[in-house]
Amino acid sequence: MQQGKAQTMAKKDQKDVHVDIIRKTHKNLRRKLANGDDFDQVWKSHCSDDRALNEYSVAMKQLATNAWSTDCDGRDRTEWCKEFSIDYYSHGKLQELLKKDKRRQTYYQKDQQSHFVRGPTPNTDSSFDAARISADVVVDKIKLLDVGSCYNPYSEMPEFETVALDLAPANQNVFKCDFLYVEIVEASNANAFLPNCKSTEHNSNVTFLPSNYFQVVVFSLLLSYIPCPHKRWLMCKKAYQVLAANGLLLIITPDSSHQNRHAALMVKWKTALENIGFQRIKYCKDRHMHFMAFRKVPNDFIWDKRKGGTDSLSMDVLNIPQDFQEMEASSVDEIENLRKSERD
Ligand SMILES: C[S@@+](CC[C@H](N)C(=O)[O-])C[C@H]1O[C@@H](n2cnc3c(N)ncnc32)[C@H](O)[C@@H]1O
Repeated sequence: MQQGKAQTMAKKDQKDVHVDIIRKTHKNLRRKLANGDDFDQVWKSHCSDDRALNEYSVAMKQLATNAWSTDCDGRDRTEWCKEFSIDYYSHGKLQELLKKDKRRQTYYQKDQQSHFVRGPTPNTDSSFDAARISADVVVDKIKLLDVGSCYNPYSEMPEFETVALDLAPANQNVFKCDFLYVEIVEASNANAFLPNCKSTEHNSNVTFLPSNYFQVVVFSLLLSYIPCPHKRWLMCKKAYQVLAANGLLLIITPDSSHQNRHAALMVKWKTALENIGFQRIKYCKDRHMHFMAFRKVPNDFIWDKRKGGTDSLSMDVLNIPQDFQEMEASSVDEIENLRKSERD
């Protein structure tokens, strides 16, 4: 009995150490930028600190696989991404959307002035390959890019052909890559890239990725790590470039406040992502996270103005609550505090 208690205490202490490491890393990055330091310099120095990156990576893997598990006493984030991707590509969700697109084309012909507006989508720089639509509806294995993966939770899932990237890989199933600065190359070079990614080379450095290639890009707890709102938006723009036509960007971002507290912020995210060329097709909030799915739409997509499409101001930032709460609890603190209050 005593021994069991001692083990539980030791586990808890260990967990607190890991939480502190995550909290400290996020806070330090934000603090440096708030002090007016140049982003590139802050980021460069952060990325060259191998010891700190590895410490974070070990702590995050432990928390994700043990203490917080992936479900974080709400929805399991990895399962959510898996189920949504399979529903979308294999259980008819994408077909439904494509049918809806066709209906919108018809409405648009009849009602060009009031409710609908035709693209081109602002800020898009990638050409949409319409011929691939039907090819993308049914896929054999879903090509999934997990950015900020840490330990690659998708590696054992047979539904996916996964490429996992991280600044600091926690194991050999993850490639070392800074997605903020990775180069995007023509898809015709994808074959040159892929053998490299499929190899079991330990943590090889990925410096370029193919454009218009992946069917799913996952950003799970990634954007809140990035201390700058504009760089978060640029990450999403990069996701747009690597996604194939109709590809999915799945974003999970922490927030332990109640459902509506940051609703306005999430509407701003929707607008900012529309400005890249993404249609939000799913949004839900559980106790600790926002879950969002965005679809890469064609340049001539018909936006429904009643839902805010392209009507709004141009936005190239993604704010998170912590941007407005300097020195206040980070997202990690929020999750931890809520848990503690529930336990006590
Ligand atoms: C909070 S962890 C999330 C880990 C995992 N996705 C999960 O949901 O448990 C954020 C991860 O993003 C990685 N990361 C941050 N910026 C990155 C970038 N520019 N490129 C690649 N990975 C990045 C960090 O190294 C860290 O492992």
